[in-house]
Formats: sequence, C-alpha cells, structure tokens
Amino acid sequence: MTSSPATARTRVAIIGAGPAGLLLAALLHRDGIDSIVIDSRSREEIERTIRAGILEQGTVETLRELGGTRVDAVGHRHDGIELRWDGVGHRIDFQALVGRAVWLYPQHEVLIDLLAKNLADGVDLRLGVTALGIDGAETEAPLVRATGADGTPLEIHADIVVGADGSRSIAREAVTGSLTGGYFREYPFAWFGILCEAPPSAPELIYSTTQRGFALISQRSPEVQRMYLQCEPTMDPAEWSDAFIWDELQARVGGGLHEGTIFQRDVLRFRSFVAHRLRTGRAFLVGDAAHTVPPTGAKGMNLAVADVLLLHRAIADFVATGSEAGLDAYEPTALQRIWKAEHFSYWMTVMLHAAPGATEFDERRRLAELELVATSAHGSAFLAEAYTGWPLRG
Ligand code: DHB
Repeated sequence: MTSSPATARTRVAIIGAGPAGLLLAALLHRDGIDSIVIDSRSREEIERTIRAGILEQGTVETLRELGGTRVDAVGHRHDGIELRWDGVGHRIDFQALVGRAVWLYPQHEVLIDLLAKNLADGVDLRLGVTALGIDGAETEAPLVRATGADGTPLEIHADIVVGADGSRSIAREAVTGSLTGGYFREYPFAWFGILCEAPPSAPELIYSTTQRGFALISQRSPEVQRMYLQCEPTMDPAEWSDAFIWDELQARVGGGLHEGTIFQRDVLRFRSFVAHRLRTGRAFLVGDAAHTVPPTGAKGMNLAVADVLLLHRAIADFVATGSEAGLDAYEPTALQRIWKAEHFSYWMTVMLHAAPGATEFDERRRLAELELVATSAHGSAFLAEAYTGWPLRG
C-alpha cells in the first residue's frame, strides 16, 4: 500500500541549497516572500563543498548588502592576477585597468554564511529531502515531488518552482524536456586540485602555462593553499605521489613555492554547458543547473549569483503586481551574461592550456595571444573587466 504524500504549500519552491538556492531564499525572505528550500545533503555536507575561491566585485557587493557575510573579515581583496609563461610573470592590474577587484573567499565560506543567515531568519530549509521531479510546470500550480528525510513522499505546491540543483539537476527535465538538454562542450584535459598546509607563495593568484602543462597557484587562508595542475580527464586522484605533485607544481611555475602537507586531492572535469531553456511556464533554472563553465576564471558561482539577482527581481515583481513581464524577460536577459561568461571561461581555458596534439603552430599562436593580452592595455582591460565581472542587473 502506498501512503498519500505529505504536502506543503509555499510561494517559491527551491530545489537545491547551494549558493544559488540559498541566496534566492534569503533575498525573497527580505521581501517577505516565503519559500521552501530542499536539498538531499546535510548541513555538514553542504558546508564541506570544495569549489572555487574567487568572488567578483558585484558578488561581494550583493553579499554585503544582504548582510551576515564574513567576506570583509575573512576574505582577501585581490587587485590583480599574474599570467606567467616561459617562467616570466605579467601582472594584470585590475584596479589600474578597470577600477575593480575580486575577493578570495572560498565557496564553502559563502555557504556557511548563507545557511546561518537563512536559519537565523527562519527560512523553511529542509535538508535530507531529495527532489524527484517537477509536475505541472506549464500550469499555475506547479509542484515538486520529493522524498522526505524519513523516506516518506512529500509534495511541495508553489506558485513558482526554481531548479538550483547543480550540474546534475533533476529540475532540468521539466524545463528543457530532458535531463541533459543543452549546448555542450568537453575539453581534453582536467585539473588536479590540492589543498595543502603551507603559507601563501604569492600575494595574488598565478596562472602559469609551460610546455609541461598549466598550473594555478591560489590560496585559502594564511595556513592553507589551493593549487591546481593540468592533467588527463580520466586520471585517478590517488595516482600521483606528493613528491611528484610538488616537483610538477614547482616546474610549472618556475620554482619558489612553499611546500607543505597535502590533505585533499581531487580531479575537476572541464565542461561547458548551457541548457536549451531556462524556463518552462512556472519552472526556472539558475546556476549550474542552467549552465556550467570550465573552472579557469572562476565564473561558476558568480554566474549563479547573477541569475539569482535577475530571477529574484522578477519574482518580487510578480508577487507584488501579478505582472509576468520580469519572468518572461528572465531567460533572454540571463542568457546574455551566461554566454559572455561561457566565452570568457572557454577563452581563458584555451589560452592557458596546451591541448593534446597541439602543433608547433598552435603553441606559438597561443603564446602570442598571451603576449598580446598581457602587453596591450586594451587586451588586459578586456580580461580585467570580465574577470572582475560585468555590471549586474536586477
Ligand atoms: C580558484 C579556482 C579557479 O578556477 C580560478 O580561476 C581561480 C581560483 C580557486 O579555487 O581558488
């Protein structure tokens, strides 16, 4: 015998308690609009998420305005990055070029802040609840089917359903007609990422490309550093010894790194994806559910924040006035930024990584591109503007 599902009712049902879902819930709460956020993970699992560490200026301004962020206490402002090739560094000075900056403040810190804020504000956050699908997206009464933390069925009835459930989104099916429906590209390399106990090796990030491959020197705190090495996409994270990793990192930046105990290793796949649709009726996609970018340039979470700002404004207008104009504009408006960020992430990736099988021509052209970008004020400004983030709407 199947029991009839428990039901809940809210204005906005949000699938996924990542940065996109949690930010949307917090912004809606500020407007007095109730939402229910569900996620299959526990609070501890969400807070342990290891992702990129760079926030655009507009993302930082959004978090500050919302309140409850520790970005100014714990994060670090970076006024530039270094591009390095043939062992020689070229600084891209964001402040001088575009008068903007980025902040090194890892995604798990953003998640800790947003979870704490939503919980303190009494937002209806249901963790351990697994979404199964969205029904009635094309009607005015959509619902999310889910399995509760205790294994019992749950239905959440809402005016609007938002899929903020990441790159393996289940919400995508109701919006695009398939779980994977989108424009897609894979790359013939990946990043081997480490976290290590060591002091910072440089005041800013170093993006370094050599004949041995790419390396990125990033940071987490005065005691913990994050570094990445270009590797094969199929590589097993256990394959490389600590000694090999350090030798390879040193070789790929020309030496000078502080070494320390490696306590976390992972392999990041490089994928570009934009869903065919971001909206069907009353169901919307935001963040990684709508698009993914390769990590070079750290656009992923920033793009999710930009989607959420637009959709939040549209939902607030809809609730206040009944007008669907903002909801109708969400997809075309969001896609303008999404495709620019797709281009930027693709461009940074291809400029900084030698593809397997690259010819001598390909490599000489690639180094000339780096030289052009780094030594032309216009080239550098293009990079600086994109890296620090185009103006936000909504
Ligand atoms: C980090 C990741 C990135 O992809 C990037 O471009 C810069 C920094 C990071 O994890 O710190």
